[in-house]
Amino acid sequence: MPTLDELNRATPAEFARAFGPVYEHSPWVAERAFARRPFGSCVDLHLALCGAVQSATGEEQIALIRAHPELAGREAREGALTPESTREQAAAGLGALSEHEAAELRRLNADYRSAFGFPFVICARLNRKDAIMGTLRARLSNTREQEIANALAQIGEIARLRLADLCA
Ligand code: GUN
Repeated sequence: MPTLDELNRATPAEFARAFGPVYEHSPWVAERAFARRPFGSCVDLHLALCGAVQSATGEEQIALIRAHPELAGREAREGALTPESTREQAAAGLGALSEHEAAELRRLNADYRSAFGFPFVICARLNRKDAIMGTLRARLSNTREQEIANALAQIGEIARLRLADLCA
């Protein structure tokens, strides 16, 4: 784990290698946050990463949301998740769904994607499978603007926990 001093002296390539995976398939977030050095703490680094997301364009924010796999979705079935996503989905108990639960989640995920045009994102490490299903059902009645805000807030939580594994 790098010290703060090492973090602040890293080259752009070293920084991107270390923190690129904090945002799913979206290394541009870490690349932009690099410009906000020096960081006083890991919390400070998290704020810089969230700031890079906040100051991105609406299209970039939607692309960031779309970079996330569906929970217990196609990538999970095909073993094509990133290592971080594999751990997160397992932590929520999504690796052990009954046939009935899996079918229900597939249906809810499909309804959500057709309502909003992006996948349902919730921080899987902070929610067990029942909470995930209940929240998905409830969030289906939100507006698209509310769901963009919810998804970005959840992505901030996913990043906070991924970062805590890398920076102490
Ligand atoms: N898609 C929905 N929730 C999550 C999550 O917590 N992590 C990842 N990687 N993808 C998700």
